[in-house]
Amino acid sequence: MSFQLTSEQEMIRLMARDFAKKELEPYADKRDQEEIFPEDVVKKMGEVGLLGMMVPPEYGGSGAGAVSYCLALQEIAYECASTAVTMSVANLSAEPLLRFGDEEQKCKYLVPLASGKMLGSFAVTEPGAGSDPGSMKTRAEDKGGYYLVNGTKVFITNGSYAGVINLIARTDPEKGSRGLSAFIVEKDLPGVLVGNKEDKMGLRASNTVELIFEDCKVPRENLLGREGLGFKIAMVALDSGRIGIASQSLGIAQACLDEAIKYAKTRRQFGRLISSFQAIQWMIADMATQIEAANWLTLSAADRKDRGLAFTKEASMAKLFASETANKAAYKALQIHGGYGYMKEFKIERLYRDARATSIYEGTSEIQRVVIAREVLRG
Ligand code: CAA
Repeated sequence: MSFQLTSEQEMIRLMARDFAKKELEPYADKRDQEEIFPEDVVKKMGEVGLLGMMVPPEYGGSGAGAVSYCLALQEIAYECASTAVTMSVANLSAEPLLRFGDEEQKCKYLVPLASGKMLGSFAVTEPGAGSDPGSMKTRAEDKGGYYLVNGTKVFITNGSYAGVINLIARTDPEKGSRGLSAFIVEKDLPGVLVGNKEDKMGLRASNTVELIFEDCKVPRENLLGREGLGFKIAMVALDSGRIGIASQSLGIAQACLDEAIKYAKTRRQFGRLISSFQAIQWMIADMATQIEAANWLTLSAADRKDRGLAFTKEASMAKLFASETANKAAYKALQIHGGYGYMKEFKIERLYRDARATSIYEGTSEIQRVVIAREVLRG
């Protein structure tokens, strides 16, 4: 078996690395500390094709595919995990339209989303519906020519800056997860309000807000697929999204390892570099091994997606293992830094906070295990 990246995939990785070095690395700490969302940088990401990587060129995307997307997202996350989640949700937002949109919807919304002219967001989670989106309450009532939407969505990445929102809402109160539908909602529609901006532990240069829908009239033609398909559309989009979060986790994990190595090779204690101690070497060996394994799981899920094979189980495995790897790597790398790691002047402090979200959003590690177990038991 051989897994060789194509020259195009290598090129995209290098392009993303250069972009991240120039646009992210010098400013990542300041943006984190001052909670600055880099709107201009996100626009540039659109211009270089990083926001519609799985969308074919005829719909404004770069058509680079899932493997290239993984490679690029890792590079972005290596320098700035906040910008990586912005990029990941932007790419995820194109997925429902790509898979379920009709020609008119694709031309109107997918083209500006994929080319980065418009930023996308994905509104599923509610105050009382996180791991269990099937219990959501946001209501979309059929009024003939339009749906009347009322409800509140929380933790919405890109919410303040989005041009369109992928909204999942309840069209049938009796049918549980089969009573949900998906809509494309223009953000400047009357009745769409941006609520609280979240004060997060990490990923502070990403935008996370509450979105409130108050008697918002969403035109009938903005329904995706048909009524009742909302839960499936969300799950299909999340399958892809989870490959993105696995890649973001890998970028963070690699940055943790590199910071740990750099520190261990300069810090002296007991008259020796601490990299010469076996206790430190074992931590570095574990980090490197787990990153390698997470990388293969993630690329394998992405490769299956590119080849049109089922990848629900593989995406959840990649997301579970890579996000847990990022958390373990952040813990160990900070431990290697000792007291200095706890101080804001060292990069590892930011990485430690950023890593924490990866095993929570787009399905907690516990939810990934539910998905994996179901798929494995189904055979
Ligand atoms: N693809 C297609 N269809 C799927 C699917 C998938 N991956 N997973 C489930 N379905 C279908 C099922 O086949 C079933 O179809 P029928 O009704 O026709 O039988 C239907 O959906 C319901 O499925 P389940 O019975 O399995 O649903 P469930 O209520 O037991 O939930 C779950 C399953 C996997 C736990 C799901 O609820 C889940 O993934 N929860 C986590 C939610 C999540 O990840 N939220 C993240 C929010 S977005 C975010 O975080 C973005 C951000 O800003 C960073």
